[in-house]
Amino acid sequence: MKLLVKNIGRIVGIESTGRLRVCGAEMDRLECFDDAWLLVDNDRFAAYGRMDELGEIAADQVVDAEEGMLFPSFCDSHTHLVYAGSREQEFLDKINGLSYEEIARRGGGILNSADLLHETSEDELYAQAMERVREITAMGTGCVEIKSGYGLSTGDELKMLRVIRRIRETSPLEVRATFLGAHAVARAYRGRQGEYVDLICNEMLPAVAAEGLADFVDVFCDEGFFTVEETARILRVGRKLGLRGKIHANELAVSGGVQVGVEYDALSVDHLERMGAAEIEALHGAVTMPTLLPGAAFFLGMSYPPAREMIGAGLGVALASDYNPGSSPSGNMRMVVSLASIRMKMTPAEAINAATLNGAYAMGLSRDYGSITLGKVANFFITKPMSSVEFFSYAYQTPLIRRVFLKGGEVFGMA
Ligand code: NIG
Ligand code: FE
Repeated sequence: MKLLVKNIGRIVGIESTGRLRVCGAEMDRLECFDDAWLLVDNDRFAAYGRMDELGEIAADQVVDAEEGMLFPSFCDSHTHLVYAGSREQEFLDKINGLSYEEIARRGGGILNSADLLHETSEDELYAQAMERVREITAMGTGCVEIKSGYGLSTGDELKMLRVIRRIRETSPLEVRATFLGAHAVARAYRGRQGEYVDLICNEMLPAVAAEGLADFVDVFCDEGFFTVEETARILRVGRKLGLRGKIHANELAVSGGVQVGVEYDALSVDHLERMGAAEIEALHGAVTMPTLLPGAAFFLGMSYPPAREMIGAGLGVALASDYNPGSSPSGNMRMVVSLASIRMKMTPAEAINAATLNGAYAMGLSRDYGSITLGKVANFFITKPMSSVEFFSYAYQTPLIRRVFLKGGEVFGMA
């Protein structure tokens, strides 16, 4: 099956040197190619060239990009999009002055979602999550990481992870699953946090690994949630079972989460609203990708991660949506990319690299996804004609994505 896309105004986000992530000053460079055609062979990028040099190509399907731009699909490396119902009551509580931490301390927040999830059948949970999957697919996401963490008991965590597996098997997205039993201490274990961590290490993690349900293990390492020592213990058990870390760190306090993540070669440390010089230093030369979630800072009215300092120090950063019912009820990666520019002063080129190649890296997927590279999986979208790449970030509410292709096939088209 050969697909030819012709009349492309600009191909954006080409990676021709084989880098698996981009760091520091390199982040501000987006390789582009103008007035182009592009050929997909089966599910992979096979060739591209200039329209005025397009010879005879036998293709099974021809798509006219009508001078729009062609981008690699977003790689959203941090979501919690499997959840039951919603939490707009807490939205009202926040409007009326309560903070995220206060809501959590009163037994709301994540524990509310856990109660709802417990009462929701696996089929219903899958149906609700698939709505969100379809939504983000149409908004340009091609790879997504999804976490458990609203189960908080062995049975309900496995239920969530089985739903994620079903999404992986039935949606066109490339999905990675993360076990996040250490998202909050389950209600039944209130005041017995140590015993809950024992349950995670001795029962949940082995059960998850036995069914092969997760690729990664995550811990909410923050003030009022899990300690550095507990995080290290969970990471050690995860490592023995073949699960790499992806840590929620430094959202509410300078928690030590960055350092413990780096020490255990976590694939990413995420959030990072609270960062000091020591945290940036710890990430220097590490395999760990710092991942910024500006949608959560926006929704909760928190300070934003210091993206400029991090990139200035030579780090690569990834951007992700954190799609979840409590701190970021949106999986719109275009909004994330625009917020990165508006609130963190990342250039549009830096933000696009962060939301594509570096996001793929943060899921261990950048050999096959995250850029327009010959041989990589053909995940891309076509926009309306635009005056520049910057316009894509600037006109942040304009529906610019016209057609979406994943694994070489069209999955969304706007009339
Ligand atoms: O990434 N910070 C912890 N976990 C999620 C929020 C989960 C929730 O409130 O439901 C986050 O922000
Ligand atoms: Fe999160």
